[in-house]
Amino acid sequence: MTRIFLRHPWRDQSGITSLVFEENSGEITGFLGVVPRPMSFNGRPVRAAISSQFIVAPARRSTLAAVKLLQAFVSGPQDLSIADEANDASRKLLGSLGGSTALLYSLYWFRILQPARFLLSRAGGGMPRSIARTLLPVCRLIDAVTVRLPHSPLRRSEPSVIGIDLGTAHLLECLSRVPRRCALRPEYNERSLEWLLSVIAHNDECGDLRKVAVRNERGEVAGWYIYIVTPNGLGEVLQLGADERTIKLVLDHLFDDAARHGAAALSGRFEPSFVQQFHEKYSMFHHRGHWLLVHSNNSELAQAIHRGDAFLTRLEGEWSMRFRLIPQWPAPRQRKLRISYHEVPPVPLDVARSPS
Ligand SMILES: CC(C)(COP(=O)(O)OP(=O)(O)OC[C@H]1O[C@@H](n2cnc3c(N)ncnc32)[C@H](O)[C@@H]1OP(=O)(O)O)[C@@H](O)C(=O)NCCC(=O)NCCS
Repeated sequence: MTRIFLRHPWRDQSGITSLVFEENSGEITGFLGVVPRPMSFNGRPVRAAISSQFIVAPARRSTLAAVKLLQAFVSGPQDLSIADEANDASRKLLGSLGGSTALLYSLYWFRILQPARFLLSRAGGGMPRSIARTLLPVCRLIDAVTVRLPHSPLRRSEPSVIGIDLGTAHLLECLSRVPRRCALRPEYNERSLEWLLSVIAHNDECGDLRKVAVRNERGEVAGWYIYIVTPNGLGEVLQLGADERTIKLVLDHLFDDAARHGAAALSGRFEPSFVQQFHEKYSMFHHRGHWLLVHSNNSELAQAIHRGDAFLTRLEGEWSMRFRLIPQWPAPRQRKLRISYHEVPPVPLDVARSPS
């Protein structure tokens, strides 16, 4: 929490900080993590803030604590407030404060790459490991045939472009060129992008972070993608950059690369401008139970998001702010979770005072 909410590289964006709900007694009973994110809108700088880890102590639920925290958040100095991966409770609360749901960016695309292995991974939880291990070679065989059948919807095209490892400086260059079509876009520098990628890469549970730039035969950048393969075989795409001419080439390369790196299926945030290309590449669209919420006093900003005119990938969203409890192996028999407060540096948090 210290690293993500207090030591992030946008600390100098004064006034945009995480919030706690403090009772009159001084007790902290609620928290809303907030991280500023510089963006631009039609070339002009705008300040966005992403919220995460919204929580109120069970005993203080159904009071105004949650409302006060959200109210303090949306009244911050930022031009645009975003809550990504929000649940129904947050959606209702932010809606009551003038926020809205970005339905397009609350959808995900989904593509099965290795059908038999995908089914095995879904059934895996209820199946003894020895049986799953025995079935794996059979699944590999079925998959090898299925993805090569000429009329199979799961057929994978041989990529006609070359993938190269994407470094931070190169990603910055890609970001500055490819998504020009979007009115709202994130603005990074080398330090902030490096920090963001390192936070994601260090999350042990995630698996390997793959960052690939795709070049055509003339050596020009056709696009790029960033994804990880989670231990259950699902590839989570965090960012995808391309334009209308190159998206299919980039998707072919991504599907091939992800399958080679063990992904049975891939999923990523819906890209409104590429709906037809995803459809032609046999992807499905679905809702994963959480929402992207926006609040802004500038209606043009909110409208740009609602009409899908924003480069808002999962790299700009909540993915990097997730916490996972990483199991230790061998697991200690009884281990108490100890939280030490003394390491938190004296960075001021804004306080939403108790309503009473
Ligand atoms: C999400 C969470 C913070 C919401 O807090 P909560 O106290 O349960 O929020 P509620 O929906 O009960 O809203 C609080 C009260 O404010 C009221 N309220 C909502 N908007 C209001 C507004 N604009 N003005 C006045 N009152 C309002 C609600 O009606 C509710 O009162 P009620 O229970 O009498 O109907 C809390 O449930 C929680 O910590 N959950 C676990 C973690 C979690 O799911 N976090 C969200 C991740 S995205």
